[in-house]
Amino acid sequence: MSERKLKAAIIGCGMIAYSAHIPAYKYFSDKYELVAICDVFEKAAREAAEKYDIPSYFTNAEEMLCSIKPDVVSICVPNMLHKQFVLLCLEHDANVICEKPLAFTLHDAKEMYALAKSKGLSLMACQSMRFTPDRIAAKKLLDNGEIGTPYYGEFSRIRRRGIPTWGTFHIKERSGGGAFIDIGVHMVDAVLWLMGNPEIYSVNGSTCRKLHKEIGTLQSSGALTGSVQNARKFDPDEMNVEDFSCGTITFKNGARINFKVAWAANLRDETTIRIIGEKSGVELPDGIIHRGIDDDSALEMMPEKYECGSPFSGHFHVVEDIYDVVVNGKEPIIKPEETINVAGIIEAFYRSAELGREVAFEELL
Ligand SMILES: NC(=O)c1ccc[n+]([C@@H]2O[C@H](COP(=O)([O-])OP(=O)(O)OC[C@H]3O[C@@H](n4cnc5c(N)ncnc54)[C@H](O)[C@@H]3O)[C@@H](O)[C@H]2O)c1
Repeated sequence: MSERKLKAAIIGCGMIAYSAHIPAYKYFSDKYELVAICDVFEKAAREAAEKYDIPSYFTNAEEMLCSIKPDVVSICVPNMLHKQFVLLCLEHDANVICEKPLAFTLHDAKEMYALAKSKGLSLMACQSMRFTPDRIAAKKLLDNGEIGTPYYGEFSRIRRRGIPTWGTFHIKERSGGGAFIDIGVHMVDAVLWLMGNPEIYSVNGSTCRKLHKEIGTLQSSGALTGSVQNARKFDPDEMNVEDFSCGTITFKNGARINFKVAWAANLRDETTIRIIGEKSGVELPDGIIHRGIDDDSALEMMPEKYECGSPFSGHFHVVEDIYDVVVNGKEPIIKPEETINVAGIIEAFYRSAELGREVAFEELL
């Protein structure tokens, strides 16, 4: 039995709230009481409240915060609204889980964490994809020094046809960017974390948009995953973000990460990570460790802790973790300095793509 229950609330009642945050708070019913939900569309908030037996619903976040005074708030609105709601929740003394990406710029991420720190509150970016069994096992391997110092990493996150079509992910003014900021951010976060969050020197990035007109294929490709609520009609002519991106992140210690990320590409679906150090190299998700000339072994993986029947079991880990951070003063798994670096990489990546040259981290300060 947990020491005390935290009052939880959610802002933004769309796909990820339904598929991940509500189920996670409900699962940990000994730790949380999900007391309120808010969406700018009254119908969305009301239906979620009715369906999940949530006592209150609101259409205005500030009203909800004033009236409910939640201990923890999940922010599940489109990317462009993250900052304003994070600051609002912190100002109202709530701890925050903010959906990814927390921020698009180094400055914004620092500002958010500075406020959290000054208020003695926890702010956690919902980098929920760290928690797959292969990544957890690889993290142990790297932390135990079994790879040595990682000097090269690469990741590839390819959806063959998977532009998100239910919300506003394809509209820059709402999302801040396309494939890189949406699914690339999980990979950047995971690989940085695995490699020990080394100091970043620069980012070189490029983006393009090639396949967004294939709306018929997209709609039938399974891009609409999870329990999508309030889906808005996808108009490919509105799409002004990239469907393909690639680049390099360089670290001050000389290490590099090369990557490619696609919402749509003429390749098979793929989510792979490779990290090399002087002692060994590891490939994910297969979990193969390579040493010497032919010494290959398998990474020891524990089964997924939370079988929630959706691709969002990582959210259960995040919701569980912040409870222990808030109530028991535990160190967060997802640390501010890691998320600040991810935000800086996002900023440098898009600036590099726009300028057509490498962007040093120092230029962002
Ligand atoms: N961690 C993950 O794996 C993961 C997966 C999917 C989405 N996400 C993130 O979650 C966020 C939301 O994505 P989604 O797929 O649920 O989008 P969505 O479009 O399905 O839902 C967004 C909801 O926010 C509501 N909203 C918009 N403005 C609002 C306001 N001012 N006040 C209150 N509510 C408002 C909308 O009405 C909508 O219901 C995005 O930042 C996305 O990147 C994360």
